[in-house]
Amino acid sequence: MVPGLQVLLFLTLHLLQNTESSMVHLNSNGYEGVVIAINPSVPEDERLIPSIKEMVTQASTYLFEATERRFYFRNVSILVPITWKSKTEYLTPKQESYDQADVIVADPHLQHGDDPYTLQYGQCGDRGQYIHFTPNFLLTDNLGIYGPRGRVFVHEWAHLRWGVFDEYNMDRPFYMSRKNTVEATRCSTDITGTSVVRECQGGSCVSRRCRRDAKTGMQEPKCTFIPNKSQTARGSIMFMQSLDSVVEFCTEKTHNVEAPNLQNKMCNLRSTWDVIKASADFQNASPMTGTEAPPLPTFSLLKSRQRVVCLVLDKSGSMRLVRHYIPITRLTLMNQAAELYLIQIIEKESLVGLVTFDSTATIQTNLIRIINDSSYLAISTKLPQYPNGGTSICNGLKKGFEAITSSDQSTSGSEIVLLTDGEDNRISSCFQEVKHSGAIIHTIALGPSAARELETLSDMTVGEQSLQCRSRGMDKQYSTCGQYRRKRHVLCYHLDSKKARNHSSRSKRKKLHHLRFPGR
Ligand SMILES: *[C@@H]1O[C@H](CO)[C@@H](O)[C@H](O)[C@H]1NC(C)=O
Ligand SMILES: *[C@@H]1O[C@H](CO)[C@@H](O)[C@H](O)[C@H]1NC(C)=O
Ligand SMILES: *[C@@H]1O[C@H](CO)[C@@H](O)[C@H](O)[C@H]1NC(C)=O
Ligand SMILES: *[C@@H]1O[C@H](CO)[C@@H](O)[C@H](O)[C@H]1NC(C)=O
Repeated sequence: MVPGLQVLLFLTLHLLQNTESSMVHLNSNGYEGVVIAINPSVPEDERLIPSIKEMVTQASTYLFEATERRFYFRNVSILVPITWKSKTEYLTPKQESYDQADVIVADPHLQHGDDPYTLQYGQCGDRGQYIHFTPNFLLTDNLGIYGPRGRVFVHEWAHLRWGVFDEYNMDRPFYMSRKNTVEATRCSTDITGTSVVRECQGGSCVSRRCRRDAKTGMQEPKCTFIPNKSQTARGSIMFMQSLDSVVEFCTEKTHNVEAPNLQNKMCNLRSTWDVIKASADFQNASPMTGTEAPPLPTFSLLKSRQRVVCLVLDKSGSMRLVRHYIPITRLTLMNQAAELYLIQIIEKESLVGLVTFDSTATIQTNLIRIINDSSYLAISTKLPQYPNGGTSICNGLKKGFEAITSSDQSTSGSEIVLLTDGEDNRISSCFQEVKHSGAIIHTIALGPSAARELETLSDMTVGEQSLQCRSRGMDKQYSTCGQYRRKRHVLCYHLDSKKARNHSSRSKRKKLHHLRFPGR
């Protein structure tokens, strides 16, 4: 890659993973359609799936009791990555995908390490994006730290599903109560324990009681609250699910309104149970009668089929244009984007074809299975070099379909990645054909004057558009740094960021993430 390009190229991930796209629904007390997806960068490990199953099964009972016989997990799909070996028990996913999973199993996030966490950008009561567990968390014995994994799952599920927040606060572990006593930040205040400082010298550590600061009356820095193992307090799961006695959420009765924690801050001093009671789930489910335990959750194992992708590249005359502040042509940018796509984004074993077009279109390569560097080379040597001619996006797309079908693949479910400057006002003439193909069209616009219809193409086929780039903080793929994209990815040009911002307001629902592409 040209080094200078790194400044310009962004990899943008669309996370359509929000409330609308989660497939979870509550059917008379049982959650159905929960999707747990394993990231393809996670090496195959025989122990991972049993551990997930055990966690969810345990969580189901705990959740059921914590919610007074209201909710349990009825069925869960585990999405096995395409990089793992095939097994006969694996079914083909229908709409389940990594990007829309409720729970992901992926490498540690820079910020969180192996601690499970739930991404929730929203307000009190809003649903979150997803729960993240690391393989390490699922495979190592960490009972002492987190308690049973099923309990951790319920803690995270409460963040994800009901928008309640943590009742601990690492940054402010103590506060001065209205009665002028120093209290540990916790819920409920019935939880007993001691406040200690661990001091290490040489190789040995000792714990001693914390001293109070004479002036402020507060605990000295580094003082931590260690709850007693043996407790009678039943709440709260959002404070410390690892305590044996903790089997419920803090209620109106037990809630600690004084604690300086996120729950109080975000939820206006309401208790977690109060927020849960206001949720749609709660409104739609009355407690199950009787005393029987709920049925055990059932699991389906799903593995994606291979991807079929055809790159459809614009080589028309206008691709010769150069932006004044970037001395390279659109064609060069496009080729670099295509190479990046081949090398960084496409998973191994995918089938990839290449079509170029101006006013007419040519199949440069039919579908090639991506195995090693030779496969990339076979495609990248066919990238267009000489921009000329008119622009017929429809001819490009039709040739793309042909490249797919002539390699005995179905256009339905296949993907077309269309890179073009989009200066073509006749795109709508093939809308019907595109719709009929069942293909997913991702559009990447390279120039400032791309036709509106380009967006329609992607909207129509649930593909992605580069026009809508918008900066945002971290995302779940950040930690894996561009190794895996299934469907929801585009390359985004910094060049068009102004236009991009204008377009992004149109689809607020979509959460877009920029990554500066790492040097190779
Ligand atoms: C979950 O259970 C419901 C109702 O029994 C059923 O319709 C649905 O297909 C199941 N889903 C999975 C993934 O097993
Ligand atoms: C529990 O914590 C309290 C302090 O709140 C302490 O006085 C008590 O001895 C502890 N009990 C046990 C069994 O450790
Ligand atoms: C890639 O794989 C093909 C088919 O297995 C083989 O013929 C070729 O030599 C390999 N090329 C490289 C660079 O490993
Ligand atoms: C973006 O929107 C602003 C105000 O809405 C407008 O002034 C500007 O011209 C637009 N830019 C583009 C590239 O469409």
